[in-house]
Amino acid sequence: MAEAVITDDLMPASVEELVEAILSEMTLEEKAGQLNSVDASNPTPSERIGDDIRAGRVGAVLNQVELHEVCALQHIALEETRLGVPLLFSRDVIHGFNTVFPLPIGQASSWNPDMVREGARIAAAEAAATGVRWTFAPMVDISRDARWGRIAESLGEDPYLASVLGAAMVKGFQGDDLSAPGSIAACVKHYAGYGASEAGRDYAATTIADNEMRNVYLPPFKAAADAGAATFMTSFGDIDGVPATGNDYLINGILRGEIGFEGLMISDWDSIGQLIIHGFCEDPTEAAKVAAEAGVDMDMMSSAFVDCLPALVREGQMDEAVLDTMARRVLTLKFKLGVVDDPYADLHRDGTPPVKDALAAAQRAAAESMVLLKNKNDVLPLNFDALESLAVIGPLADQPEDQMGTWVFDGEAERSITPATAFKAALDGRAEVKFVPALTHSRDTNTAQIRHAVDAALKSDAVVLCLGEEAILSGEAHSRADITLPGAQVELARAIKATGKPVIGVILAGRPLALTNVENCFDALIYAWHPGSMGGPALVDLVSGAVAPSGKLPVSFPVSVGQIPIHYNHKNSGRPAEPHNVVHIDDIPVGAGQTSLGMSSFHLDDGYQPLYPFGHGLSYTQFDYGPVTVSAPGFAAGETLTVECELSNTGERDGVEVVQLYIRDRAGSLTRPVRELKAFRRVALKAGETTIVRFELTEADLAFSRRDKSFGAEPGLFDVWVGGDSTTQNGAHFRLTSAT
Ligand code: NOJ
Repeated sequence: MAEAVITDDLMPASVEELVEAILSEMTLEEKAGQLNSVDASNPTPSERIGDDIRAGRVGAVLNQVELHEVCALQHIALEETRLGVPLLFSRDVIHGFNTVFPLPIGQASSWNPDMVREGARIAAAEAAATGVRWTFAPMVDISRDARWGRIAESLGEDPYLASVLGAAMVKGFQGDDLSAPGSIAACVKHYAGYGASEAGRDYAATTIADNEMRNVYLPPFKAAADAGAATFMTSFGDIDGVPATGNDYLINGILRGEIGFEGLMISDWDSIGQLIIHGFCEDPTEAAKVAAEAGVDMDMMSSAFVDCLPALVREGQMDEAVLDTMARRVLTLKFKLGVVDDPYADLHRDGTPPVKDALAAAQRAAAESMVLLKNKNDVLPLNFDALESLAVIGPLADQPEDQMGTWVFDGEAERSITPATAFKAALDGRAEVKFVPALTHSRDTNTAQIRHAVDAALKSDAVVLCLGEEAILSGEAHSRADITLPGAQVELARAIKATGKPVIGVILAGRPLALTNVENCFDALIYAWHPGSMGGPALVDLVSGAVAPSGKLPVSFPVSVGQIPIHYNHKNSGRPAEPHNVVHIDDIPVGAGQTSLGMSSFHLDDGYQPLYPFGHGLSYTQFDYGPVTVSAPGFAAGETLTVECELSNTGERDGVEVVQLYIRDRAGSLTRPVRELKAFRRVALKAGETTIVRFELTEADLAFSRRDKSFGAEPGLFDVWVGGDSTTQNGAHFRLTSAT
């Protein structure tokens, strides 16, 4: 404290100059201290970690959002350390803060980057008002396994969709200026390949070939880096024998060397310490050296950096320049966020939007994130004016906590409006709403109350049946092997179906569930994910028709868990399945010949198609696509190809269609997926309206990481399709005649 280096007379100077000035004053221990991020959750952190802060052993703290504690900790750093470098406060602000937005997988179902950006902006402002300046989001891990609990936090199975939406989230959190009120630093995670965990078991090792890593898992990370993300986080995973936190090839090699990321890399929680548990390092000293030299700058919770790096440098086992680079990145982030200039900034520059506006945005987001999976006989929307009674049934119909979903530390359940409450409010004075939970929670196996639900259904014009999973069944370390509806919910659904009343199924869940055994119980089915604070009113908006459903699936829904991983952008194989070469197990003649069953790539019991494909989602109107045309049969590097098709709203209601463009590269130096999403657009059309939807393709849209690892397109024949989901057959061809 005696020699505080951060003084006003240093201003104004460039961030670089300011950082170098501090760095030049720092001891090895003080530099290493900046690299240490510790947990500051209660009990009373200032007593627990105060001495470490005083000793200059702490650079950042997680998980403290009580104003007086935040200020007390910051005060210690500023006034009681030798150099007075402020702390950086971080938190998992994943899908909202006090106001909770839909789960990221739900937000991804909106295919609306503007909405995703707005949600992140609001969350950032609410978080910053408590001193949080750094969130650990977005999570852009490509997720093709619905068993994995963290699919809830993901943006789905597709590299392009996750790239667009992940970049939007980064921009929302960070705004145009990191130091502005209400801006917080994003942290793109988990670098890399975490979503490929074997069998969907969290933390499990994985093997990802380089081609797969570069073409499937890395694109969203690159997009987030290009969007200006300030920080990245390593994954807990082990990729091909090298844990991500010690993976020099992935971090220094690809991320810094090839992608050009210059920001800060933090480990995941104790993932440096876990290098020992993985069997990759013998002790904390080796773990610290391996992680530091791989490109990790900050240590979340293992203390290996602060404990071991000074000695490693002193003993000549690690270059001091490595330590300097790491500390420089931490200090640079603090300056860019403005916490050095004004360490208590957002506490007095509150940019928080009014609660009313935040809730309105959360309601819009929830409505856009819900996907109408089926709507038999146009049972939806319900005509509220003609309703006399409505039964709202199910264990997820009135759960303010559960509807917020996983990774909600700061969400206020009092802000949640549940479906039961929202339907009662919307129909108040117009129709009777009978609410019967029937099961106390999603895993409840006690069927005693189901008869009350049946009773209510029989006395109602229609039923809204809210099923799904409690929030605790998805998220980190919450993987499931059986992803059907838990508890007695299938029994409940069958009993309600047997009443003969129109059944509107609503699934609130953190993952795509395997719905095959229950799907026929619903006349209409809305997949609501965990929709956040305003799930109830958003559902009423859709059910009443006030808002037309526009969500589209960001993941394929499996027929059964045995199909997993199932994703639309798979490789073709040498023997692709087609309707004519698959057989169902029930149709195999006894004594059938060994080679008589189709000899293609499918499951005898569950075929090869998902229950609902990627990109699927209905509206209350009908969208018809005209034929796809291309502006030329071919185009060369440097030129643009225009792809067009007519889109008509031929139904009787206004609607929004997410128009999707897919390509297939017919032959490459590496085999290419059977389809790849390359563009999409939300198009609003009034009933009866027609428009031309136009996309421009360039060589860059066709690029991939080629066999020699260079990035670019390859000349040759391509298919292009435009339609409302990933199965569309509405297509044309073109040729790329040259590539750079
Ligand atoms: C572990 C999780 O994997 C990561 O996503 C999260 O940000 C950190 N813990 C901090 O809570």
